[in-house]
Amino acid sequence: MSAFTTINCLPIEIFIEIFIKIDGYSLLKCREVCKKWKEAIDNTDILWQEVCRKEFKKSSRIAKKKSGDILSWYHVYRNLKLWSNVSSYEKTVREFYKFNLHDPSHVLGINYGVLPLKDAKGTVFYDMTDLKYIPVALPEKNYLKISNNDHATVIQVKFGIYVQRTLKDPNYITEYYFKADKYVLNGDLLLFYNNKDVYKCNLLQKELTPHLILHCNYDIKEIQYYDAHIYLFTDCGRILNLESNNSVTEKTIKCPAEWIVHIKNINAFDDKNFICYSRTLFKIETDDYQHLYLDFPPITALFFYIDIVLIGLRNGSVLVYRLTSQKKAMKPVFETLAELPDGKFPVQLDVCERRTGPMIVAATFFELYMIDVKFFPCETTVKNSFTNNKLNMYQRLRRLKERLQ
Ligand SMILES: *[C@@H]1O[C@H](CO)[C@@H](O)[C@H](O)[C@H]1NC(C)=O
Ligand SMILES: *[C@@H]1O[C@H](CO)[C@@H](O)[C@H](O)[C@H]1NC(C)=O
Ligand SMILES: *[C@@H]1O[C@H](CO)[C@@H](O)[C@H](O)[C@H]1NC(C)=O
Repeated sequence: MSAFTTINCLPIEIFIEIFIKIDGYSLLKCREVCKKWKEAIDNTDILWQEVCRKEFKKSSRIAKKKSGDILSWYHVYRNLKLWSNVSSYEKTVREFYKFNLHDPSHVLGINYGVLPLKDAKGTVFYDMTDLKYIPVALPEKNYLKISNNDHATVIQVKFGIYVQRTLKDPNYITEYYFKADKYVLNGDLLLFYNNKDVYKCNLLQKELTPHLILHCNYDIKEIQYYDAHIYLFTDCGRILNLESNNSVTEKTIKCPAEWIVHIKNINAFDDKNFICYSRTLFKIETDDYQHLYLDFPPITALFFYIDIVLIGLRNGSVLVYRLTSQKKAMKPVFETLAELPDGKFPVQLDVCERRTGPMIVAATFFELYMIDVKFFPCETTVKNSFTNNKLNMYQRLRRLKERLQ
């Protein structure tokens, strides 16, 4: 018996145990060995989740959160691998939506494969898999953020958040409203702050009771959650790290003090991976790189993939800023990904990975452009993207609609 057939006789659990230890490149090569291996590897998404964790720890989490359960970890891995060379692929730029209102925040953030848009009529939703309209429009247009996951849908309004849960037990209450300035939804955990008080709730418990976990001494600008740590970004440029044992550590964003007050935008993952920008100021810190530019080309929009940043400029270009290509304190190095037509410029940028490659969503004051990058033009589209999770989400949105009307 050859070594090859011996491996083929192994039970699937052992097969996985062997393959989970190898890197993504070798895993891709192993797929090509024979049909049986290809099937076994492709059907074992945990292998791809593991290589994503090893090679694209943070960006793969961002990608997965945005695309939801429709995109497998295998496709996430394949796409992120090609992002290192994104400008060499065929792409199309097309106008997807025309808004009636001039607004710098039409897009409420792609999340779980769903794109929420604010228009004069209210908030409408599109499925990022096929860009089809989802018939669960909400009457209001003044929502600030909408998030979905397997457990809940959360909508932020000016003074609070509406929560709709999907639970196995019909006796549990599903609807809640809390006073809150900002929130973050992560798995079965909902975190939010109201003024300087930070709260935590477990979405699986019978009563959704918020527990006060911290009274912050500073005004808070942003909240993030990663690896069981809560990060608070304050107006005065501090980052508080709240651990699961409730101990708090504090650090300051290294930036000239006179610039701190100008910081309008913080895009953050944790206290090591964040960006601050405000017109021509651009400060980025990640695990491996730190850059600060005080005279950056005026930024109008930004998307942060940790080691790759998409930047929208006033002149209509969407640029790729790759951290590995930059030398500290030197002029920034860009590649142009796309240019918007007719003097339009992006005021918001978002990205959703799809089987064919990334779909970049660029909103201007009046239009929404889709920049479709074809990494895998021959990839077939998903036939039935209507999963149970999506059905739950649609039901929650319908209930929210009834409640908000
Ligand atoms: C980028 O892609 C082009 C065309 O596919 C290829 O010729 C080039 O070698 C790639 N560069 C890198 C750094 O992978
Ligand atoms: C909390 O945990 C961190 C490490 O996880 C440790 O350094 C710190 O001392 C702990 N604080 C308390 C109050 O136990
Ligand atoms: C916009 O500005 C950037 C940075 O200065 C430059 O790289 C890009 O080519 C410009 N785009 C257009 C359309 O002029």
